[in-house]
Amino acid sequence: MSPRITRRRLVLAAAAASTVIAASVAVIGTAEAASTLGASAAQSGRYFGAAIAAGRLGDSTYTRILNTEFNSVTPENEMKWDATEPQQGRFSFTNGDRILNQGLSNGSKVRGHALLWHAQQPGWAQSLSGTALRNAAINHVTQVAAHYKGKIYAWDVVNEAFADGGSGARRDSNLQRTGNDWIEAAFRAARAADPAAKLCYNDYNTDGINAKSTGIYNMVRDFKSRGVPIDCVGFQSHLGTGIDSSYQANLQRFADLGVDVQITELDVAQGGNQANIYATVTKACLAVSRCTGITVWGIRDTDSWRGGENPLLFDGSGNKKAAYTSVLNALNAGGTTTPPTTTPPTTNPPTGGACSATVTLNSWNGGYVANVRVTAGSAAVNGWTVTTTLPSGSAITGVWSATNTGTSGAVSFRNVAYNGQVPAGGSTEFGFQGTGTGPGTSLACAAA
Ligand code: G3I
Repeated sequence: MSPRITRRRLVLAAAAASTVIAASVAVIGTAEAASTLGASAAQSGRYFGAAIAAGRLGDSTYTRILNTEFNSVTPENEMKWDATEPQQGRFSFTNGDRILNQGLSNGSKVRGHALLWHAQQPGWAQSLSGTALRNAAINHVTQVAAHYKGKIYAWDVVNEAFADGGSGARRDSNLQRTGNDWIEAAFRAARAADPAAKLCYNDYNTDGINAKSTGIYNMVRDFKSRGVPIDCVGFQSHLGTGIDSSYQANLQRFADLGVDVQITELDVAQGGNQANIYATVTKACLAVSRCTGITVWGIRDTDSWRGGENPLLFDGSGNKKAAYTSVLNALNAGGTTTPPTTTPPTTNPPTGGACSATVTLNSWNGGYVANVRVTAGSAAVNGWTVTTTLPSGSAITGVWSATNTGTSGAVSFRNVAYNGQVPAGGSTEFGFQGTGTGPGTSLACAAA
Protein backbone atom coordinates (compact mmCIF):
# COMPACT_ATOMS: atom_id res chain seq x y z
CA MET A 1 0.00 0.00 0.00
CA SER A 2 1.33 3.42 -0.84
CA PRO A 3 2.43 5.45 2.18
CA ARG A 4 0.29 8.27 0.90
CA ILE A 5 -2.89 6.24 0.91
CA THR A 6 -2.06 4.84 4.30
CA ARG A 7 -1.39 8.27 5.64
CA ARG A 8 -4.59 9.77 4.34
CA ARG A 9 -6.69 6.91 5.60
CA LEU A 10 -5.25 7.23 9.06
CA VAL A 11 -5.60 10.98 9.08
CA LEU A 12 -9.23 10.77 8.04
CA ALA A 13 -9.88 8.10 10.61
CA ALA A 14 -8.45 10.36 13.24
CA ALA A 15 -10.78 13.22 12.39
CA ALA A 16 -12.19 14.67 15.55
CA ALA A 17 -13.22 17.88 17.20
CA SER A 18 -10.61 20.62 17.04
CA THR A 19 -10.61 21.44 20.70
CA VAL A 20 -7.31 22.88 21.74
CA ILE A 21 -6.26 22.60 25.33
CA ALA A 22 -4.84 25.83 26.64
CA ALA A 23 -1.28 25.68 27.89
CA SER A 24 -1.13 26.07 31.61
CA VAL A 25 2.21 27.83 32.02
CA ALA A 26 2.22 29.88 28.86
CA VAL A 27 2.14 33.64 28.74
CA ILE A 28 0.04 34.73 25.80
CA GLY A 29 1.26 37.88 24.14
CA THR A 30 -0.74 39.86 21.62
CA ALA A 31 1.29 40.64 18.55
CA GLU A 32 0.63 43.70 16.45
CA ALA A 33 -0.88 42.87 13.11
CA ALA A 34 1.75 41.98 10.54
CA SER A 35 0.88 41.51 6.90
CA THR A 36 2.94 38.43 6.02
CA LEU A 37 3.21 34.99 7.53
CA GLY A 38 6.93 35.21 8.26
CA ALA A 39 6.76 38.67 9.81
CA SER A 40 3.82 37.72 11.96
CA ALA A 41 5.43 34.50 13.16
CA ALA A 42 8.64 36.38 13.91
CA GLN A 43 6.82 38.54 16.45
CA SER A 44 6.75 35.57 18.81
CA GLY A 45 10.25 34.42 17.81
CA ARG A 46 9.02 31.77 15.40
CA TYR A 47 9.44 31.14 11.69
CA PHE A 48 6.87 30.39 9.03
CA GLY A 49 8.38 28.41 6.17
CA ALA A 50 7.63 26.56 2.97
CA ALA A 51 9.04 23.53 1.22
CA ILE A 52 10.37 24.67 -2.12
CA ALA A 53 11.64 23.06 -5.30
CA ALA A 54 14.72 24.20 -7.18
CA GLY A 55 12.92 23.60 -10.45
CA ARG A 56 10.32 26.24 -9.64
CA LEU A 57 12.66 29.07 -8.73
CA GLY A 58 12.37 30.49 -12.25
CA ASP A 59 8.63 31.03 -11.77
CA SER A 60 8.16 34.69 -10.85
CA THR A 61 4.80 34.24 -9.10
CA TYR A 62 6.31 31.45 -7.01
CA THR A 63 9.40 33.40 -6.00
CA ARG A 64 7.41 36.56 -5.31
CA ILE A 65 5.26 34.73 -2.78
CA LEU A 66 8.26 32.89 -1.40
CA ASN A 67 10.32 36.01 -0.86
CA THR A 68 7.40 37.99 0.57
CA GLU A 69 5.67 35.56 2.86
CA PHE A 70 8.16 33.05 4.23
CA ASN A 71 11.20 33.28 6.47
CA SER A 72 12.24 29.62 6.35
CA VAL A 73 12.70 27.18 3.49
CA THR A 74 12.98 23.40 3.26
CA PRO A 75 14.14 21.62 0.10
CA GLU A 76 11.27 19.40 -0.99
CA ASN A 77 13.62 16.83 -2.56
CA GLU A 78 17.03 18.40 -3.20
CA MET A 79 18.87 17.35 -0.05
CA LYS A 80 17.61 13.77 0.05
CA TRP A 81 20.02 10.86 -0.31
CA ASP A 82 19.23 10.12 -3.97
CA ALA A 83 19.79 13.77 -4.84
CA THR A 84 22.97 14.38 -2.87
CA GLU A 85 24.84 11.08 -3.34
CA PRO A 86 23.59 9.57 -6.61
CA GLN A 87 26.68 7.37 -6.81
CA GLN A 88 28.43 6.10 -3.73
CA GLY A 89 31.01 8.58 -2.55
CA ARG A 90 30.17 11.05 -5.32
CA PHE A 91 28.23 13.95 -3.91
CA SER A 92 26.06 16.37 -5.83
CA PHE A 93 25.02 19.53 -4.04
CA THR A 94 24.03 21.74 -6.95
CA ASN A 95 20.27 21.80 -6.37
CA GLY A 96 20.58 21.64 -2.60
CA ASP A 97 22.86 24.65 -2.75
CA ARG A 98 20.30 26.51 -4.88
CA ILE A 99 17.72 26.05 -2.13
CA LEU A 100 20.24 27.00 0.53
CA ASN A 101 21.30 30.15 -1.27
CA GLN A 102 17.75 31.15 -2.06
CA GLY A 103 16.94 30.93 1.63
CA LEU A 104 20.06 32.60 2.95
CA SER A 105 19.84 35.46 0.44
CA ASN A 106 16.33 36.14 1.66
CA GLY A 107 17.34 36.11 5.31
CA SER A 108 15.47 32.86 5.86
CA LYS A 109 16.26 29.87 8.00
CA VAL A 110 17.01 26.70 6.06
CA ARG A 111 15.71 23.36 7.30
CA GLY A 112 17.72 20.42 5.98
CA HIS A 113 15.59 17.49 4.80
CA ALA A 114 16.44 14.62 5.16
CA LEU A 115 19.72 12.85 5.90
CA LEU A 116 18.42 9.28 6.26
CA TRP A 117 15.10 7.88 5.12
CA HIS A 118 13.96 4.47 3.91
CA ALA A 119 12.55 6.14 0.77
CA GLN A 120 14.32 8.07 -1.98
CA GLN A 121 17.56 6.22 -1.46
CA PRO A 122 19.87 5.99 -4.46
CA GLY A 123 19.86 2.60 -6.14
CA TRP A 124 23.30 1.71 -4.90
CA ALA A 125 22.22 2.17 -1.26
CA GLN A 126 19.05 0.15 -1.79
CA SER A 127 21.19 -2.80 -2.79
CA LEU A 128 23.42 -2.64 0.29
CA SER A 129 22.79 -4.23 3.67
CA GLY A 130 24.47 -4.90 6.98
CA THR A 131 27.78 -3.24 7.81
CA ALA A 132 28.28 -1.93 4.28
CA LEU A 133 24.95 -0.07 4.41
CA ARG A 134 25.53 1.19 7.95
CA ASN A 135 28.94 2.57 7.03
CA ALA A 136 27.59 4.13 3.84
CA ALA A 137 24.68 5.72 5.73
CA ILE A 138 26.87 7.22 8.42
CA ASN A 139 29.32 8.47 5.82
CA HIS A 140 26.40 10.09 4.01
CA VAL A 141 25.25 11.85 7.17
CA THR A 142 28.78 13.04 7.87
CA GLN A 143 29.50 14.31 4.36
CA VAL A 144 26.22 16.09 3.78
CA ALA A 145 26.06 17.67 7.23
CA ALA A 146 29.70 18.76 6.82
CA HIS A 147 29.00 20.33 3.41
CA TYR A 148 26.26 22.49 4.93
CA LYS A 149 28.02 23.03 8.25
CA GLY A 150 27.00 26.24 9.99
CA LYS A 151 24.27 27.07 7.48
CA ILE A 152 21.40 24.79 8.39
CA TYR A 153 19.01 25.79 11.17
CA ALA A 154 17.69 22.27 11.74
CA TRP A 155 18.28 18.92 10.07
CA ASP A 156 15.76 16.15 9.74
CA VAL A 157 18.45 13.62 10.59
CA VAL A 158 16.12 10.65 10.37
CA ASN A 159 12.77 10.66 8.61
CA GLU A 160 9.81 8.30 9.07
CA ALA A 161 11.50 5.44 10.89
CA PHE A 162 8.42 4.31 12.83
CA ALA A 163 5.67 1.99 11.63
CA ASP A 164 2.08 3.03 11.09
CA GLY A 165 -0.67 1.38 13.09
CA GLY A 166 -0.85 0.34 16.68
CA SER A 167 2.54 -1.24 17.29
CA GLY A 168 4.53 1.84 18.25
CA ALA A 169 7.52 -0.03 16.82
CA ARG A 170 10.15 0.80 14.28
CA ARG A 171 9.34 0.44 10.60
CA ASP A 172 11.12 -2.42 8.88
CA SER A 173 13.65 -1.07 6.38
CA ASN A 174 17.11 -1.79 5.12
CA LEU A 175 18.41 0.81 7.59
CA GLN A 176 16.52 -0.74 10.50
CA ARG A 177 17.96 -4.13 9.61
CA THR A 178 21.47 -2.76 10.15
CA GLY A 179 20.67 -2.72 13.87
CA ASN A 180 18.34 -0.82 16.14
CA ASP A 181 21.01 1.73 17.03
CA TRP A 182 21.11 3.18 13.50
CA ILE A 183 19.10 6.24 14.50
CA GLU A 184 21.31 7.22 17.40
CA ALA A 185 24.41 6.56 15.28
CA ALA A 186 23.03 8.97 12.69
CA PHE A 187 22.35 11.66 15.29
CA ARG A 188 25.84 11.33 16.76
CA ALA A 189 27.41 11.61 13.31
CA ALA A 190 25.32 14.66 12.47
CA ARG A 191 26.28 16.40 15.71
CA ALA A 192 29.95 15.73 15.08
CA ALA A 193 29.73 17.10 11.54
CA ASP A 194 27.65 20.21 12.28
CA PRO A 195 27.49 21.04 15.99
CA ALA A 196 25.43 24.20 15.39
CA ALA A 197 22.47 22.59 13.62
CA LYS A 198 19.46 21.51 15.60
CA LEU A 199 18.98 17.79 15.05
CA CYS A 200 15.41 16.60 14.52
CA TYR A 201 13.55 13.34 14.19
CA ASN A 202 10.68 13.80 11.69
CA ASP A 203 7.56 11.68 11.03
CA TYR A 204 3.90 11.64 9.92
CA ASN A 205 0.69 10.25 11.44
CA THR A 206 1.96 11.67 14.70
CA ASP A 207 -0.65 14.40 14.86
CA GLY A 208 -2.06 13.40 18.23
CA ILE A 209 -1.33 11.07 21.10
CA ASN A 210 -1.36 7.64 19.45
CA ALA A 211 0.71 4.46 19.34
CA LYS A 212 3.09 5.77 16.71
CA SER A 213 3.74 9.11 18.38
CA THR A 214 4.14 7.31 21.70
CA GLY A 215 6.77 5.02 20.19
CA ILE A 216 8.67 8.11 19.04
CA TYR A 217 8.11 9.79 22.39
CA ASN A 218 9.67 6.80 24.14
CA MET A 219 12.67 6.91 21.79
CA VAL A 220 13.22 10.62 22.40
CA ARG A 221 12.92 10.12 26.16
CA ASP A 222 15.47 7.33 25.94
CA PHE A 223 17.82 9.48 23.84
CA LYS A 224 17.57 12.36 26.28
CA SER A 225 18.24 10.06 29.24
CA ARG A 226 21.34 8.58 27.58
CA GLY A 227 22.74 11.78 26.13
CA VAL A 228 22.12 10.92 22.49
CA PRO A 229 22.13 14.31 20.75
CA ILE A 230 18.59 15.19 19.71
CA ASP A 231 17.20 18.73 19.75
CA CYS A 232 13.84 18.63 18.05
CA VAL A 233 10.97 16.55 16.75
CA GLY A 234 9.20 17.34 13.50
CA PHE A 235 5.48 16.69 13.11
CA GLN A 236 4.79 16.55 9.40
CA SER A 237 1.04 17.17 9.74
CA HIS A 238 -0.26 16.03 6.37
CA LEU A 239 -3.88 16.39 7.43
CA GLY A 240 -7.25 15.37 6.04
CA THR A 241 -10.59 16.95 6.90
CA GLY A 242 -10.19 16.68 10.66
CA ILE A 243 -7.57 17.11 13.34
CA ASP A 244 -6.97 15.01 16.42
CA SER A 245 -8.20 16.72 19.58
CA SER A 246 -4.89 15.87 21.28
CA TYR A 247 -2.77 17.68 18.66
CA GLN A 248 -1.53 20.41 21.01
CA ALA A 249 -1.20 18.11 24.00
CA ASN A 250 0.98 15.85 21.90
CA LEU A 251 3.31 18.71 20.96
CA GLN A 252 3.47 19.71 24.59
CA ARG A 253 4.41 16.27 25.89
CA PHE A 254 7.38 16.17 23.52
CA ALA A 255 8.38 19.72 24.49
CA ASP A 256 8.27 18.61 28.10
CA LEU A 257 10.99 16.07 27.31
CA GLY A 258 13.32 19.01 26.64
CA VAL A 259 13.25 19.16 22.84
CA ASP A 260 11.91 21.77 20.43
CA VAL A 261 8.94 20.80 18.31
CA GLN A 262 8.27 21.98 14.77
CA ILE A 263 5.42 21.55 12.32
CA THR A 264 7.43 20.45 9.32
CA GLU A 265 5.24 19.53 6.32
CA LEU A 266 1.81 21.02 6.93
CA ASP A 267 -0.88 20.63 4.30
CA VAL A 268 -4.62 20.10 4.78
CA ALA A 269 -7.18 18.58 2.42
CA GLN A 270 -9.51 21.21 1.02
CA GLY A 271 -12.98 20.89 2.49
CA GLY A 272 -15.23 22.81 4.80
CA ASN A 273 -12.69 22.63 7.60
CA GLN A 274 -9.48 23.58 5.82
CA ALA A 275 -9.16 27.13 7.14
CA ASN A 276 -10.19 26.06 10.66
CA ILE A 277 -7.70 23.20 10.72
CA TYR A 278 -4.89 25.48 9.58
CA ALA A 279 -5.83 27.89 12.37
CA THR A 280 -5.98 25.11 14.93
CA VAL A 281 -2.48 23.92 14.04
CA THR A 282 -1.13 27.48 14.13
CA LYS A 283 -2.70 28.18 17.51
CA ALA A 284 -1.38 24.91 18.89
CA CYS A 285 2.16 25.81 17.89
CA LEU A 286 1.80 29.29 19.35
CA ALA A 287 0.55 27.83 22.62
CA VAL A 288 3.60 25.57 23.04
CA SER A 289 6.58 27.72 23.87
CA ARG A 290 9.04 25.19 22.43
CA CYS A 291 7.19 25.03 19.11
CA THR A 292 9.67 27.07 17.10
CA GLY A 293 7.96 27.26 13.73
CA ILE A 294 5.67 25.95 11.02
CA THR A 295 6.51 24.83 7.49
CA VAL A 296 3.88 24.26 4.83
CA TRP A 297 4.71 21.60 2.22
CA GLY A 298 4.60 23.79 -0.86
CA ILE A 299 3.36 27.24 -1.83
CA ARG A 300 0.46 27.01 -4.31
CA ASP A 301 -2.04 24.18 -4.62
CA THR A 302 -0.50 23.37 -7.99
CA ASP A 303 2.92 22.92 -6.37
CA SER A 304 1.65 20.28 -3.96
CA TRP A 305 2.52 16.57 -3.98
CA ARG A 306 -1.19 16.01 -3.16
CA GLY A 307 -2.45 16.61 -6.66
CA GLY A 308 -6.13 17.55 -6.79
CA GLU A 309 -6.51 18.09 -3.03
CA ASN A 310 -5.75 21.82 -3.04
CA PRO A 311 -4.13 21.53 0.39
CA LEU A 312 -2.05 24.73 0.55
CA LEU A 313 -2.45 28.42 1.40
CA PHE A 314 -2.33 29.85 -2.14
CA ASP A 315 -4.38 28.76 -5.14
CA GLY A 316 -2.86 27.81 -8.45
CA SER A 317 -2.81 31.44 -9.56
CA GLY A 318 -0.99 32.55 -6.43
CA ASN A 319 -4.04 34.10 -4.75
CA LYS A 320 -4.36 33.93 -0.96
CA LYS A 321 -7.00 31.44 0.15
CA ALA A 322 -9.25 31.57 3.21
CA ALA A 323 -6.76 29.22 4.86
CA TYR A 324 -4.06 31.85 4.41
CA THR A 325 -6.15 34.47 6.17
CA SER A 326 -6.96 32.16 9.05
CA VAL A 327 -3.27 31.39 9.59
CA LEU A 328 -2.28 35.05 9.44
CA ASN A 329 -5.04 36.02 11.86
CA ALA A 330 -3.98 33.27 14.25
CA LEU A 331 -0.36 34.39 14.08
CA ASN A 332 -1.35 38.00 14.64
CA ALA A 333 -3.42 37.04 17.66
CA GLY A 334 -0.11 36.26 19.35
CA GLY A 335 1.67 33.39 20.95
CA THR A 336 3.73 32.36 23.89
CA THR A 337 7.06 34.06 24.23
CA THR A 338 8.23 32.74 27.57
CA PRO A 339 11.03 30.17 27.68
CA PRO A 340 9.85 26.66 28.42
CA THR A 341 9.63 25.18 31.84
CA THR A 342 11.04 21.72 31.28
CA THR A 343 9.54 19.11 33.49
CA PRO A 344 11.36 15.78 33.33
CA PRO A 345 8.98 12.92 32.59
CA THR A 346 7.96 10.65 35.37
CA THR A 347 10.18 7.62 35.64
CA ASN A 348 8.01 5.62 38.01
CA PRO A 349 5.67 3.64 35.80
CA PRO A 350 3.33 1.12 37.34
CA THR A 351 4.42 -2.39 38.20
CA GLY A 352 3.96 -4.66 35.23
CA GLY A 353 1.28 -7.22 34.47
CA ALA A 354 1.08 -10.19 32.12
CA CYS A 355 1.87 -10.25 28.40
CA SER A 356 1.57 -12.49 25.37
CA ALA A 357 3.61 -12.72 22.17
CA THR A 358 2.67 -13.78 18.66
CA VAL A 359 4.98 -14.10 15.69
CA THR A 360 4.53 -13.55 11.97
CA LEU A 361 7.08 -15.39 9.82
CA ASN A 362 8.17 -14.51 6.33
CA SER A 363 10.71 -16.38 4.20
CA TRP A 364 13.81 -14.34 3.49
CA ASN A 365 17.07 -15.12 1.79
CA GLY A 366 16.95 -18.84 2.52
CA GLY A 367 15.90 -18.23 6.12
CA TYR A 368 13.15 -16.22 7.76
CA VAL A 369 12.20 -12.85 9.22
CA ALA A 370 10.13 -12.99 12.40
CA ASN A 371 8.04 -10.01 13.47
CA VAL A 372 6.89 -10.47 17.04
CA ARG A 373 4.01 -8.56 18.62
CA VAL A 374 4.10 -8.27 22.40
CA THR A 375 0.70 -7.47 23.89
CA ALA A 376 0.03 -6.45 27.48
CA GLY A 377 -2.86 -8.03 29.39
CA SER A 378 -5.33 -6.08 31.47
CA ALA A 379 -2.51 -4.27 33.28
CA ALA A 380 0.35 -2.22 31.85
CA VAL A 381 3.73 -3.94 31.66
CA ASN A 382 6.98 -2.26 32.56
CA GLY A 383 9.40 -4.47 30.65
CA TRP A 384 9.06 -7.86 29.00
CA THR A 385 11.03 -10.94 28.02
CA VAL A 386 10.00 -13.28 25.20
CA THR A 387 11.44 -16.78 25.10
CA THR A 388 11.32 -19.63 22.65
CA THR A 389 13.29 -22.64 21.51
CA LEU A 390 14.35 -22.42 17.90
CA PRO A 391 14.16 -25.54 15.71
CA SER A 392 17.38 -27.44 15.13
CA GLY A 393 19.43 -25.78 12.38
CA SER A 394 18.03 -22.33 12.99
CA ALA A 395 20.36 -19.52 14.09
CA ILE A 396 19.56 -15.84 14.65
CA THR A 397 21.50 -13.44 12.44
CA GLY A 398 19.91 -10.13 13.40
CA VAL A 399 17.56 -8.62 16.00
CA TRP A 400 15.79 -5.26 16.13
CA SER A 401 13.86 -3.47 18.87
CA ALA A 402 14.99 -6.07 21.44
CA THR A 403 18.18 -7.51 22.93
CA ASN A 404 18.65 -11.25 22.59
CA THR A 405 20.34 -13.85 24.72
CA GLY A 406 21.47 -16.83 22.66
CA THR A 407 21.24 -17.31 18.92
CA SER A 408 20.14 -20.95 18.67
CA GLY A 409 18.21 -23.46 20.74
CA ALA A 410 16.69 -21.71 23.77
CA VAL A 411 16.75 -17.97 23.12
CA SER A 412 15.24 -14.95 24.81
CA PHE A 413 14.50 -11.38 23.80
CA ARG A 414 14.41 -8.54 26.27
CA ASN A 415 12.80 -5.16 25.55
CA VAL A 416 15.05 -2.19 24.86
CA ALA A 417 14.70 1.13 26.64
CA TYR A 418 12.03 2.65 24.46
CA ASN A 419 9.57 -0.23 24.13
CA GLY A 420 9.45 -1.83 27.56
CA GLN A 421 6.42 0.05 28.77
CA VAL A 422 3.26 -1.21 27.15
CA PRO A 423 -0.11 0.13 28.29
CA ALA A 424 -2.88 -2.25 29.35
CA GLY A 425 -4.16 -3.95 26.20
CA GLY A 426 -1.54 -2.20 24.10
CA SER A 427 1.23 -3.77 22.09
CA THR A 428 4.69 -3.21 20.71
CA GLU A 429 6.83 -5.09 18.21
CA PHE A 430 10.33 -6.41 17.80
CA GLY A 431 11.84 -8.69 15.23
CA PHE A 432 14.65 -11.00 14.32
CA GLN A 433 15.90 -12.83 11.31
CA GLY A 434 17.60 -16.16 11.10
CA THR A 435 18.70 -19.11 9.09
CA GLY A 436 16.72 -22.32 8.69
CA THR A 437 13.18 -22.51 10.00
CA GLY A 438 11.61 -20.00 12.40
CA PRO A 439 9.76 -20.67 15.64
CA GLY A 440 6.06 -21.46 16.01
CA THR A 441 3.42 -18.76 16.00
CA SER A 442 3.07 -18.29 19.76
CA LEU A 443 6.00 -17.46 22.02
CA ALA A 444 6.26 -17.31 25.81
CA CYS A 445 6.12 -13.79 27.25
CA ALA A 446 6.98 -12.74 30.79
CA ALA A 447 6.35 -9.23 32.10
CA ALA A 448 8.85 -7.54 34.35
O1 G3I B 1 12.58 15.01 -10.88
C1 G3I B 1 12.06 13.83 -11.47
C2 G3I B 1 11.82 14.02 -12.95
O2 G3I B 1 13.04 14.24 -13.58
C3 G3I B 1 11.14 12.78 -13.48
O3 G3I B 1 10.80 12.98 -14.83
C4 G3I B 1 9.86 12.45 -12.71
C5 G3I B 1 9.19 11.17 -13.17
O4 G3I B 1 8.52 10.53 -12.13
O5 G3I B 1 10.20 12.30 -11.36
C6 G3I B 1 10.76 13.47 -10.78
O6 G3I B 1 11.04 13.20 -9.47
C7 G3I B 1 9.95 13.19 -8.56
C8 G3I B 1 10.20 14.18 -7.46
O7 G3I B 1 9.17 14.11 -6.48
C9 G3I B 1 10.28 15.61 -7.97
O8 G3I B 1 9.05 15.98 -8.49
C10 G3I B 1 9.80 11.77 -7.99
O9 G3I B 1 9.42 10.89 -9.00
C11 G3I B 1 8.78 11.77 -6.87
O10 G3I B 1 8.82 10.52 -6.23
C12 G3I B 1 9.12 12.85 -5.86
O11 G3I B 1 8.10 12.86 -4.90
C13 G3I B 1 8.44 13.45 -3.67
C14 G3I B 1 8.21 12.47 -2.55
O12 G3I B 1 8.51 13.10 -1.31
C15 G3I B 1 9.07 11.24 -2.69
O13 G3I B 1 8.73 10.28 -1.75
C16 G3I B 1 7.59 14.69 -3.47
O14 G3I B 1 7.94 15.67 -4.45
C17 G3I B 1 7.81 15.26 -2.08
O15 G3I B 1 6.87 16.27 -1.82
C18 G3I B 1 7.63 14.17 -1.05
O16 G3I B 1 7.93 14.72 0.22
C19 G3I B 1 7.74 13.84 1.33
C20 G3I B 1 8.76 14.23 2.38
O17 G3I B 1 10.06 14.19 1.83
C21 G3I B 1 8.68 13.32 3.59
N1 G3I B 1 7.32 13.28 4.13
C22 G3I B 1 6.27 12.99 3.15
C23 G3I B 1 6.35 13.95 1.98
C24 G3I B 1 5.21 13.68 1.01
O18 G3I B 1 5.31 12.40 0.46
